[in-house]
Amino acid sequence: MIIEEARAKVNLTLPVLGKRSDGYHELDSVMHSITLADTVTLEKADCLSLSVSGDAPQGQKNLMWQAAELFFKETGTPGAASMTLEKQIPSEAGLGGGSADAAAVLRGLFRLYAPPIPKARLLSMAAALGSDVPFQMEGGCARCRGRGTELAALSPWEGLPLIVVKPDFAVSTKKAYALLDEREMPSSPAATERCVKAIADRDLSLLVDSLSNDFEAVLFHEEPRLREAFRFLSSFSVPARMTGSGSAFFLLPGERDRLSLMEAIKKARPSWQIFSAETAGWHSCI
Ligand code: C5P
Repeated sequence: MIIEEARAKVNLTLPVLGKRSDGYHELDSVMHSITLADTVTLEKADCLSLSVSGDAPQGQKNLMWQAAELFFKETGTPGAASMTLEKQIPSEAGLGGGSADAAAVLRGLFRLYAPPIPKARLLSMAAALGSDVPFQMEGGCARCRGRGTELAALSPWEGLPLIVVKPDFAVSTKKAYALLDEREMPSSPAATERCVKAIADRDLSLLVDSLSNDFEAVLFHEEPRLREAFRFLSSFSVPARMTGSGSAFFLLPGERDRLSLMEAIKKARPSWQIFSAETAGWHSCI
């Protein structure tokens, strides 16, 4: 049996540079893995199955299923797998949870069946499954360009304390991109250069200064609940940013007492999910 940790990610920066001819958007984002994670287990079996505990799609609707089907088809590997998912990462949150689970399936099946294919083939399968899946194959920290699938690895800055907050509502990624198109909001491409430098120099104040997300302006305008969530989280006087197209946020509490901050958030917003996490490094090698 193979056990794979499927870690969430946060977007430290998320400039959306424009719409591409293939309908996707050109990005230049810095993503970082965090310790909040799902657990995926895989076992050789005669037919494909998936058992889910927690809040995630069942069976063929889950991207893990599509990842497994793609793996067996593309590699010509005979056999199948019995898969389980223990879900921790909130869905529709911008935390890349579904992508992390799909990447865990590709990594795990590769370890389980060891097909004679180069790593590049596995990465192109990942890209076919979704824009965030290639990053989630190795995780750590990377500058993600193109539709998010062109990766330049950065040295992960492990152990930065975070609080991850998922309000009790979700945001549709497709709708978020459509709103960006309508509004033609200015992008913040310089943030990524600053973020890359901050990570190279381990410069926390530059990192905090570089945190940005192009979806915030447009979504805060359109979604009052999201705007209110940001205002509320910003009232704790620690850096707070949305990740992906929301609706989750991450806070960098720095030296502040994380537990008391989390308690204060929980007390004021009891229906929200709140997690303690740290930035994390690479997954085991594929
Ligand atoms: O690639 P993925 O399936 O995760 O993308 C979900 C949706 O997000 C796409 O259908 C597209 O509408 C939007 N998207 C985009 N540009 C990207 C990534 C995603 O427009 N770079």
